[in-house]
Amino acid sequence: MKNTVLTLQQAKIEKKKITMLTAYDYSTAHLIDEAGVNMILVGDSLGNVMLGYEDTVSVTMEDMIHHGAAVARGAKNAMVVVDMPFMSYQTSVYDAVVNAGRLMKEARANAVKLEGGTEVAEQIRSIVAAGIPVVAHIGLTPQSVNVFGGHKVQGKTEAAARKLLADAAAVESAGAFAVVIEGVPAKLAELITQRLSVPTIGIGAGAACDGQVLVYQDMLGMYADFTPKFVKKFANVGEVMKAAFARYIEEVGSGAFPSEEHCYAIDSEIIEKLR
Ligand code: KIV
Repeated sequence: MKNTVLTLQQAKIEKKKITMLTAYDYSTAHLIDEAGVNMILVGDSLGNVMLGYEDTVSVTMEDMIHHGAAVARGAKNAMVVVDMPFMSYQTSVYDAVVNAGRLMKEARANAVKLEGGTEVAEQIRSIVAAGIPVVAHIGLTPQSVNVFGGHKVQGKTEAAARKLLADAAAVESAGAFAVVIEGVPAKLAELITQRLSVPTIGIGAGAACDGQVLVYQDMLGMYADFTPKFVKKFANVGEVMKAAFARYIEEVGSGAFPSEEHCYAIDSEIIEKLR
């Protein structure tokens, strides 16, 4: 069954945990979808894990549309949420609506996600008014890494915690149907989750959130550049891949691959005539 804003809202009411993973291509989206994950996020983390940038600042609308469309083709039941990249919505409400519309029409997203609290509430209100579901993203918002001075846990002082509570309330009342909370103390995320009537999806925000999200290369051990404390490796696919690549080199070198079972046959009489 397709996951929609209604089924996710129902999950919060029934206290059923929501699962979300990132994907950036058709094949991975298909596997995640078949496993039964509720939501697939085409995160602008693709800047790091797919494109090798040191942050998400350089990611473009074209990047998000290209990868978003591939994921949408691979996802049958999971809701596909596509990130709005840096400077595609901060500049004006008009830009926000136009660019959210492009992600829906050109990438065939089911919803868009954007970073920020009270300062982007107007953008969220207008995108939702245009008929586009919005996931908000508060706390450690990676597009603001230069303002934070690094990937730092947010909301640790009383003033910062109050600001996050205000952000959560603002994005909910602007119409966001879910809120990603990233890099926030678990007890504060729990308080936000209790206060909101829409689901919260945590990443580095403890177990009390209504759901969890991880970057798939992180949870599969495929990205070694930087592993945050909140990442759990559910498999070591990176090691499995490296071992397979090494075996490939070995077998091509020794001539063990390709063997007869991987070759196409031709009538030997034809070959004789060609000699
Ligand atoms: O871009 C992304 O992958 C994200 C998640 C970390 C929530 O925004």
